[in-house]
Amino acid sequence: MGKTAKYVAKQPDENGYIAYTDEENRMWHELITTQLELIPNRACKEFQQGLETLKFPADRVPQLDEVSKVLTETTGWTVAPVDAVIGFTEFFELLNNKQFPAATFIRNHDEVEYLQEPDIFHEFFGHTPMLTHQKFADYVHEFGKLGCSVDPGYHGMLARLFWLTVEFGLVKTDEGLRALGAGILSSPKEVVYALDSDVPLRQPFDVIDVLRTRYRIDILQPIYFCLESLDQLYDLINQDIIGYIDEARRLGMHEALFEAKSA
Ligand code: CO
Repeated sequence: MGKTAKYVAKQPDENGYIAYTDEENRMWHELITTQLELIPNRACKEFQQGLETLKFPADRVPQLDEVSKVLTETTGWTVAPVDAVIGFTEFFELLNNKQFPAATFIRNHDEVEYLQEPDIFHEFFGHTPMLTHQKFADYVHEFGKLGCSVDPGYHGMLARLFWLTVEFGLVKTDEGLRALGAGILSSPKEVVYALDSDVPLRQPFDVIDVLRTRYRIDILQPIYFCLESLDQLYDLINQDIIGYIDEARRLGMHEALFEAKSA
């Protein structure tokens, strides 16, 4: 989701195979090697279990079919190749079909640490480990179901909740604060910043507060919401998310924690 595309998605051939170059495979290798060193005390254990289930190769970009096979076996999901930037309607329709949209390009060397547009490393490494857990997959599915059933005027707020949980959520655990968000866990810079830095705010997860929070997609996040447990997230499925959005709108947005260009 976004407005401008710097990268172009790589197209699969008729067998669904994407030919990555040696340089692109080296980029994957560099990213996964770096992240595997950074996440042991920063990612929640469910994410790490998902990584063990997926068994990503270290020397090349995995193929869509390989990742979809594991997701299908665990939670009934697949990954679907999409252009680098897709609109809300396509995004929610895919989620409604239990298809996780995956931009197939990989970042250039000058954007190793932080990338505004999601690339295949973000999609595979960041998102699919949590999607091997049924309750998390059901939570993501809920966005698809809601997005396809409500007035499109709600899409922006649904995306905000998605952003501040699926992309940038933190969770309290017995071992300490851990990340579950794909935007954090796929960024060498943000995974350290989100957990170790004293710069960003870390607040208890409150869904109304989350829905009143402005964000930007092109900066390290100024605020992270910390779930009491993953169950706090999963319980939202049985709650009136649209009612929360209406309430948040009635209360109004919080003051932005950054300069201009808000989403
Ligand atoms: Co993402």
